[in-house]
Amino acid sequence: MADSRHHAAVAAPAATHVVVKDVAKGYPGVRALAPIAFSVQPGERLALAGPSGSGKTTLLYLLAGLLQPDAGQLCIDGRDLAEMRPGRELARLVGMVHQQYDLVSSLPVLHNVLAGRLGQWSLAGSALSLIWPRERHLAEEALARLGIADKASQRTSRLSGGEQQRVAIARLMLQSPRIILADEPVSSLDPALAEEMMRLLVDLVEGSGKTLIASLHSPYLIKKYCTRVIGLRQGEMQFDLPAADLTEAVLDRLYDLDRRRPENGAIRQE
Ligand SMILES: Nc1ncnc2c1ncn2[C@@H]1O[C@H](COP(=O)(O)OP(=O)(O)OP(=O)(O)O)[C@@H](O)[C@H]1O
Ligand SMILES: [Mg+2]
Repeated sequence: MADSRHHAAVAAPAATHVVVKDVAKGYPGVRALAPIAFSVQPGERLALAGPSGSGKTTLLYLLAGLLQPDAGQLCIDGRDLAEMRPGRELARLVGMVHQQYDLVSSLPVLHNVLAGRLGQWSLAGSALSLIWPRERHLAEEALARLGIADKASQRTSRLSGGEQQRVAIARLMLQSPRIILADEPVSSLDPALAEEMMRLLVDLVEGSGKTLIASLHSPYLIKKYCTRVIGLRQGEMQFDLPAADLTEAVLDRLYDLDRRRPENGAIRQE
């Protein structure tokens, strides 16, 4: 314990990794995020939980630099995201797995993986413009580590959901950002693939001081794979807990399940 603290004190260049400082975001007629504030330390694995419309995607997009806040400030390693140029500079810091993986389905797998080496915001353009033989072996290595080396030259659309998820992970392996954001990464997967996806995401960050921030609904996955959980509801932070302290009662309140359960007579099943 003393050793690891000493190591952290020497190795960590910035005390606070991610700072969300009084950040608010709205869309016309909608308050998506009320001013919220929290910070994240290197190595944390943070789950964002909350009902539909609570602001999870909005928060992840703000952290990815894909949206700008209406008020407040987002900083990574002491630098304001608003002052960072999109593209490669940001891509070194932050990478995102979207719910549908955001792969270009008409392209071969290899091109989608290699896109991790380029600025990430114009993915289709980047993927089309590249043939970097120098980097090709990195993509092939990543695919081999994930057990799909034989798929490298296949059209991405021909892959199963589970294989596409590994292509998205391979792309992140090449991008190697400090912070990995994942928006409902398991929502369209069966339970076994969901666990595999969480394991792959944790493997990407564990032991390297990288940070994972993922929107997740399953208390089981949150407790097993995350260290901390923030509950969002109508754009406000309802709780911020160690994942181990998450209880059914806390989640039921967040999702309003006690009112929604049919046995309580509030809402009937259609
Ligand atoms: N582009 C947009 N234009 C207008 N309103 C939006 C837009 N994106 C999100 N919203 C609204 O902002 C609020 C927060 O949406 P957000 O997508 O962040 O929620 P979420 O927690 O990710 O929901 P879900 O679980 O359904 O994905 C919602 O009321 C939503 O309707
Ligand atoms: Mg969402």
